[in-house]
Order: sequence, then C-alpha cells, then structure tokens
Amino acid sequence: MVAFSQDTEKARTVGIIGLGYVGLPLAMNFIAKGYRVVGIDTDPRKLESLRAGRSHVQDVSDQELGSCLAEGILMITGHYADAAKAGTIIICVPTPLAPDHTPDLGFLLDACRRLSAHLQPGQLVIVESSTYPGTTTEQVQPLLEGEDRKAGRDFYLAYSPERIDPGNRSISFHQIAKIVSGVTEACLERVQSIYRSVFETVIPVSSTAAAETMKLLENTYRFINISFINEMAMLCDHLGLNAWEIIAAAASKPYGFSAFYPGPGVGGHCIPVDPFYLQWKAAQSGQTSRFIEIAQHINDGMPAYLVEEIRKHLPEGKSLRDARIVVYGVTYKQNIADVRESTAIAIIEALREQGADVGYSDPYLAKIRLTDGSELERAELTAESLEVADCLVILTHHSSLPIRLIADHASFVYDTRNAITALRPGAKLVTLGNGARPVQ
Ligand SMILES: NC(=O)c1ccc[n+]([C@@H]2O[C@H](COP(=O)([O-])OP(=O)(O)OC[C@H]3O[C@@H](n4cnc5c(N)ncnc54)[C@H](O)[C@@H]3O)[C@@H](O)[C@H]2O)c1
Repeated sequence: MVAFSQDTEKARTVGIIGLGYVGLPLAMNFIAKGYRVVGIDTDPRKLESLRAGRSHVQDVSDQELGSCLAEGILMITGHYADAAKAGTIIICVPTPLAPDHTPDLGFLLDACRRLSAHLQPGQLVIVESSTYPGTTTEQVQPLLEGEDRKAGRDFYLAYSPERIDPGNRSISFHQIAKIVSGVTEACLERVQSIYRSVFETVIPVSSTAAAETMKLLENTYRFINISFINEMAMLCDHLGLNAWEIIAAAASKPYGFSAFYPGPGVGGHCIPVDPFYLQWKAAQSGQTSRFIEIAQHINDGMPAYLVEEIRKHLPEGKSLRDARIVVYGVTYKQNIADVRESTAIAIIEALREQGADVGYSDPYLAKIRLTDGSELERAELTAESLEVADCLVILTHHSSLPIRLIADHASFVYDTRNAITALRPGAKLVTLGNGARPVQ
C-alpha cells in the first residue's frame, strides 16, 4: 500500500468530480485552506464556461474563479485521468429521482465506473452526493474494488454528506459541522484527517449507512415540517386565523419549537427528492414512512390549493379564464437562481390550464422552461405591468422584492410569504395562512 506523505503535492491536491452547486463551492473552500483542486465535470458547456472564468454558481464569483485559474491552483478538466494528480477525490454528482420517483443513481455510478479506471493506490475517495443508506458499500465499493484492490487496504472509501445551504451568507461553509464515515477504520481516519483541515467541526459516525441516513433525516425533517406548516396555514385560512401571528408567538418559546413558515410548497434538488430515497429504501424491506406519504400528499396539493384561493379572491365578475396574472419569484427559495423542482412551475401551469394569461418576474432568471419544453421569458415588474394585472402572486420573496412599487400599483396581491403588509387604499391583499381576512 502506498501512503502519501502529508507534505507531498499529491496529498495537498483534491479532485472534485461534479462542479455544480456543491462541487464548485467545495473546491473554493479547499483552495482557501491551501489545497490545489482538480475539478472534473462531464458537461462540455460547463467546462468551457468555467475555463473562461465564468461561474454558474452564485456563491462563487467570476473574480474568485478567475484568480484561482490564473494562479494555477484550480484545474478544470473533462478527463478522469487527471484524478491521478490528487490524493483525495470527492464525488459531488447529482442524485435525482427517476420519473417513477425511485432513486436514479445513474450519475453516481457513471462517475464511479470512470474513476475506477484511473484510481491510484492510496487515494481517498469521498462520496458527498445525497443517497439512500447502503449506497456506498453496496453500489460504490464494488465498482471501485477489484480482485487486487480493496477499500481500507489499497485505497480508502468514505461517505460525507454535503450540508451546504446555497445563497445563505449567514453561516460560513467551514462552520457547518462535517459528518464523516468510512467503510473501515482506516478510511474513517483518512476522511477525518482531511476534513479537519477544512472544517471547524468534524463529527464521525459509526458507518457510511448512518451518515447516508443522517442526510436523509435532515431533509425529510424539513420536508415534513414545511408540509405540516402549510397544512396549518390552510387550516388557519378556514378558521379565520392568522398562521403567521401564531407561528411568531410559538417561536418565542426558548425550547421545543422550531419555526417553519408557510409557502407555495417544497422545492429544490434535495428536500423534495431525498425523502423518496428513504421511502424507496424502506420499501425494499416492506416498510413505509407514513409521514413522508402525508407530507407528499400535502405538498402535491399546494398548487391546486393556491390556484383555487387566487380564483376565489379575484375581483367580482373576473374568472381565471380572463385574468391576467403576474407571478413574482419562481426560484425554489429566495435569493438564489435555482428553479429545480420549484413549485412555481406547477402553479404557473395550473393557472394557465384554467385559461389565465400568466407572466412572471424574477431578478434571478431571465427565462424558465415549462414541463412541455416551452420557454417563458421574464417580464419586468413595472407600475404599468402591475396596474394591468388582475393579480400579483408572490411565490418567492427575494430580498429585492419591490415592496413600495407593489404597494403603490397592484390592485390584488396573493402573497404566499407574508412579504407584503399593506397596499394602497382600495387594493386587496390576501396572505396564505391569513386568507380568510383579506386586507382591503
Ligand atoms: N444543491 C444543494 O443545495 C445540495 C445541498 C446538499 C447536498 N446536495 C447533493 O449534492 C449532490 C450534487 O448536487 P448539486 O446541486 O451540486 O448538483 P448540480 O447538478 O449542480 O452539479 C452536479 C455536476 O455534476 C456533473 N456531472 C454529472 N455526472 C457526472 C459525471 N459522471 N462525472 C463528472 N461530473 C458529472 C454535472 O455536469 C454537474 O455540473 C446531489 O446528490 C445533491 O443531492 C445538494
């Protein structure tokens, strides 16, 4: 077995496979701690733009990327052979759902097969993609091992879930505790050692399956709680209560209550996806999570509920068929440019199905793709566009939401985020969770 000296260049070089929302910021953080990074991706367009110093990830600036390239501490490549330059290789490729809602490990297994052909003695491989318990030992390990190559002896294999929160500037990347696990004790030692040089807190767990499940627990917890709070919001609509006021009051408790807030439904690449990895694994042994089923049911029902609420509150004599609707904020959460799994798409499509003329405005996206493949281009939010709209629907409340403009010019706002508190006299404001009490 070859052990790298901590001083060698190879030990100070990290290979990152998959340069997306997770991989690119991770690369920058290793560089900030004095490592060199070899970034590998299979998307030719991404490779071209990254090499030209153009970042597609909001948390990494073009300037930061450009200076790392210029200094030669970041190499962008499409060749897995370049992974041989690194002592540690981290896999950050997508783990989406297949159309039938089962795990699609295609990207992960493809990355492992390609890496396997170039794996060097003594290298540490860390899987970072979110996945179901058992993936590292049952799927990844057999692809990397061979007759003469065993994990823990000839190379090291670890799993460490990524916990980044894109767009969140309130907590630094290196301050998020890093959960690590290895397929053997030696693998665990290796992964702890490298991550201790990057993260403030590194927490080992007993197995790769425990670390895989930890990640699914975190995101399933959010999925269930957001769905529950949306159910509360709908209940408050019916009971004539203000969910926002009630949540704020409950949040004053210094223990035992974590506040979640209503919204148009759960989106993103992780939270609406990961619970189904857990559900699929449970189903393999004849089990199910009823909480996940219920949360899914509530989440899937949000577009229809919101469309009905908008319809109900349109000015008298107006139907969705002849309504002009502007949707503000289509990304799955505020202040990011990511529209993956955003419920905004389903809501826009449901409004259009009812015959409404729907436009959207979002400072982060100049156009969006609908499920039929057609594209919708952004329309600027102006005094005129607000005045001719029968309804402005706020789905995502970016920090740049033009509250004053809306207050001065909109005649009817349906707000799913409690972002607007008052409109001009005569205008109507309906807030999800306080819908029974329109402010007029
Ligand atoms: N985005 C998040 O907020 C977030 C947070 C925590 C965990 N995760 C998890 O991290 C993983 C990556 O997510 P992401 O959001 O960065 O995805 P992404 O789609 O932004 O990036 C993935 C990158 O991998 C590349 N890729 C695909 N197959 C490849 C292959 N075989 N070899 C090399 N590159 C390949 C793609 O071209 C893409 O650039 C997923 O498992 C996700 O669930 C994501």
